[in-house]
Amino acid sequence: MTKLIFDCDPGVDDAVALFLAFASPQDLEILAITTVAGNVAADLTARNAAVIRQIAGREDVPIHAGAQGPLVRAPIEAGHFHGESGLGALPLFEPARGLDEGHAAQVIIDLVMAHPPGAVTIAATGPLTNLALAIRIQPAIVSRIAKVAIMGGARREGGNITASAEYNIYADPHAAELVFASGVPCVVFGLDVTHQVRADPARTAAIAAINTPAAQASTNLLEFSNALERDIVGGTGAPIHDPCVIAWLLAPHLFTLRPCDLNVETASPLTLGHTAVEFRLADPSAATVLWATEADADGVFALLNERLAR
Ligand code: RIB
Ligand code: CA
Repeated sequence: MTKLIFDCDPGVDDAVALFLAFASPQDLEILAITTVAGNVAADLTARNAAVIRQIAGREDVPIHAGAQGPLVRAPIEAGHFHGESGLGALPLFEPARGLDEGHAAQVIIDLVMAHPPGAVTIAATGPLTNLALAIRIQPAIVSRIAKVAIMGGARREGGNITASAEYNIYADPHAAELVFASGVPCVVFGLDVTHQVRADPARTAAIAAINTPAAQASTNLLEFSNALERDIVGGTGAPIHDPCVIAWLLAPHLFTLRPCDLNVETASPLTLGHTAVEFRLADPSAATVLWATEADADGVFALLNERLAR
């Protein structure tokens, strides 16, 4: 059983990742969902997390809103990929349970400090602003966090928001650099691996055939992303970025990881947010960052289907 804090910016693919996490209570004790400004504004990412939580029937899990914007740079959203609401074309409603008191950064600190060292894992599928703030406020959490599983960055694949940067890192490069430089153990799922895990028509149809609220909502979300993938990229299946993080927590054998040294560009206007992923290490065993290089996409979708059917 993993004690998990899930920090996210829902976000269409964050939403599918939330459904996967909410459907896995035997594997994940979700201590809290924390939300951050990213794909859409902070009030919308928080509201969206509460909508997904209600559809998933997991109103036992608290949601805490967090940072309203990045640490230093000007905010940049990704509404063109997630729709004005942040949840594509999903029919929305006012959630019955609202947000819980406490800023996400403080909640991360309080939960990590209240549990034994190494007990709490963090999943982060949005800009890393909340985690960076938590580390700045209480550096003692760095040695107590078991690991941080992050969706972010790109090496071989190049960028998806600029030529050289992936959105989550580009949206708050200073926060990302602070997190990686802190030495907290990180497992990073960049575009190199998430672009291998695509919701092609057959996989999307398999989820559409599952008669549960989570599967039907996920189908709506994936079809929104796939339509954009067709229109913008000319592709047949959108990558499911954020679910890869939760899939790894549930089934690590589905991914191949490689030790690296990871640094983030925070000064160059041209390459801001670039992740420099260096595999040539003097001592790979001393690396605090593992970079995901390969995924078993069929295995990820089999896991997703099994959990969405619950
Ligand atoms: O680059 C993909 C990432 O940016 C995903 O987390 C998606 O939700 C967006 O936030
Ligand atoms: Ca996200």
